[in-house]
Amino acid sequence: MNLIASLEGLVPSLQTGLERIRALSELDDIHTAFLGRKGSLARLMSRLPELSAEERPAFGKAANAVKEQLTALIEDRRAVLIAAHEEAALSRFDPTLPGRVPWQGSLHPVTSVMEEICSVLEKMGFAIASGPEVETDFHNFEALNFPHDHPARDMQDTLFVAEGVLMRTHTSPIQVRAMLERGRPPVAVIAPGKVYRRDYDITHSPMFHQIEGLLVDTDVTFAHLRGTLTMFVREIFGPDVRVRLRPSFFPFTEPSVEVDISCILCDGKGRTKDGEACRVCKSTGWLEILGAGMVDPNVFAAVGFDPEACSGFAFGLGIERVAMLKYGIGDLRLFFENDLRFLRLF
Ligand code: FA5
Repeated sequence: MNLIASLEGLVPSLQTGLERIRALSELDDIHTAFLGRKGSLARLMSRLPELSAEERPAFGKAANAVKEQLTALIEDRRAVLIAAHEEAALSRFDPTLPGRVPWQGSLHPVTSVMEEICSVLEKMGFAIASGPEVETDFHNFEALNFPHDHPARDMQDTLFVAEGVLMRTHTSPIQVRAMLERGRPPVAVIAPGKVYRRDYDITHSPMFHQIEGLLVDTDVTFAHLRGTLTMFVREIFGPDVRVRLRPSFFPFTEPSVEVDISCILCDGKGRTKDGEACRVCKSTGWLEILGAGMVDPNVFAAVGFDPEACSGFAFGLGIERVAMLKYGIGDLRLFFENDLRFLRLF
C-alpha cells in the first residue's frame, strides 16, 4: 500500500511547510500546492486506477481522512496568523490620540462671495438675469457700441469660437439681452456669470466671474449710480474701506468710471507689514473692482429704447477681485487650482 503511505506522508510535509510561513498571503500558495486541483493530494488520488478493486475502499477512506487533516492544519495556521496580524495592528493603535473631526464640505469662496453680492443687490431691488457664455458679436460688442477696430475685439483678449461667435468677454451682453427681452423701461437686473479672456497672471485668469448691474428708467442720474455703488461696497466690505471713483472709458457708458477700493492686504498703504512692496495692489494702495457708468444713448438705440425718454446706469465687477480683497488672498490663481489645503480654509 505505497500509495496510502504517500498520502499519509502529505501531513508532516504540510506541517513543515506551514511552520515556515509568516504571512497570510503565503497560506494561499500552500493551500493550492497541497489541496488545489493540480496539488499533491489530487495527483495521488488520480492514481486510484493503479489499485485493485479490493484496495480501493481503504485508499478512498485514507484520502478523505488526509484531506480533512490537511484542511484543518491550514485553517489552524490561518487563525494563528490572523490573530498575530491583529495584535500587531493593535499595538500600533494609540487610544490616547485626539479623534479626527470629519471634514464638512463648504461653498467655494467665489460661489459664496457671488451669493453674498447677489443677496445685497437683490435687497436693493435688482432681479437676477442670465445669458449664454457662448455669445454673438452683436450682443458682446456691436450693440454695446464697440467700434469695429476696438482693441477688445482683437484675438489678444477675445476667445473666438467661429465667425461672429465668441466666449463672452464680460457680462455686459446680458444688459442687451435684458433690454431686448423686456422691450421697454424700467429694467433693474443683475447678471452673475462666467466670462473668458486671454489673460493670465496673479490678478487675471482666462476664466473668471463678473456681475453686471443695470438700472434703466426715466430720470436715472449719476447720483443714483454713485449712491448705489457706495452703499453696495459698504455692505460688502464694511464702513472702514475707502472707495474711489476715477474717470474712465467704456464704449457702452458715458460718462464712465472705475471704482477702486483701498487694498485690504496692505490696508491701502502700498507696503506690507514687513515693509515690502504690496504685490496685490502693485504698491498703489488701491485695487480696481468694478467699472461703471451711465448707459450710452447708442446702446439704447441698439435695443430699441428711446434715448430721449429714458436714462440708466450700468456696472460690472470681478467676483474674484472682490473675494481676494475680502479674504486677503494675494494670488487669484489659487481659486482655480482646487488645492484642498486652500479650499478647507473657507
Ligand atoms: C468690463 O468688463 C465691463 N463690462 C464692466 C462694465 C460694466 C463697465 C457695465 C461699465 C458698465 P473690465 O474689463 O474693466 O470691464 O472688467 C471688470 C472687472 O473684471 C475688473 O474691474 C476686474 O475686477 C475684473 N477682471 C477683468 N479682467 C479679469 C481677469 N482676467 N481675471 C479676473 N478678473 C478680471
